[in-house]
Amino acid sequence: MRKPLVAGNWKMHGSRNENAALIASIVQGTTGDDRVEIAVCPPFVYIADVVRGVKDSPIAVGAQNVCAEPVGAFTGEVAAAMLRDVGCRYVIVGHSERRHLYREDDALVARKFLAVQQQKMVPILCVGETLEEREQVATETVVARQLDAVLAVAGVNAFSGAVIAYEPVWAIGTGKNATPDQAQTVHAFIRGRLAREDAKIAGAIRILYGGSVKAANAGDLFGMPDVDGGLVGGASLNGEEFVKICGEG
Ligand code: PGA
Repeated sequence: MRKPLVAGNWKMHGSRNENAALIASIVQGTTGDDRVEIAVCPPFVYIADVVRGVKDSPIAVGAQNVCAEPVGAFTGEVAAAMLRDVGCRYVIVGHSERRHLYREDDALVARKFLAVQQQKMVPILCVGETLEEREQVATETVVARQLDAVLAVAGVNAFSGAVIAYEPVWAIGTGKNATPDQAQTVHAFIRGRLAREDAKIAGAIRILYGGSVKAANAGDLFGMPDVDGGLVGGASLNGEEFVKICGEG
């Protein structure tokens, strides 16, 4: 049985005060619910604060990005070992905003995945197609390319315990989520692709859906057989809404 994971991606939002209030409402609202694993991913500068804030709860903390290099002269970058040092369990790699706004390519994302995995944290590998690619019926080609790039660098064993997030780019921040059937089709494709390498790892890996998840659609999405929770952006900034989404996990 795969335990669902609901992870909040705060992106570049928040302040110490706002984060404290948000954490308090999530901790309070989810206490006692152990059917679902919950994580929050604040901006780098707030990670240590948030780790302290969730200390006595089962809520885990993740980062939104990481440097592929282990240490050295890389001004402005943050190493995987540092994220582990301050208490991160998860690290998002390959988010479409990183791929598109900061031109991260498949090869770089693969190296980041490996850097996270080598530090014994859990990479959340984001994959997904643009609207243009979907219209060209290229969704599976794109997702396969993004997955294969990581498989080539890290090998299938590195996916043991990892998390994949299917996030169609056209659904992110648009209010237009993929339908449960659309999500299920791609999730099953991803699991099948991994199963060609290792059926056991493929069967155990959690594949999250991301893109305009909210309380009103989370139940239907998470109810699909290959959807193991969600990566939630906008709706994760509202404590009450996020708690409701976690309740659908
Ligand atoms: P959204 O973002 O929930 O605001 O669509 C999801 C994401 O980018 O991870």
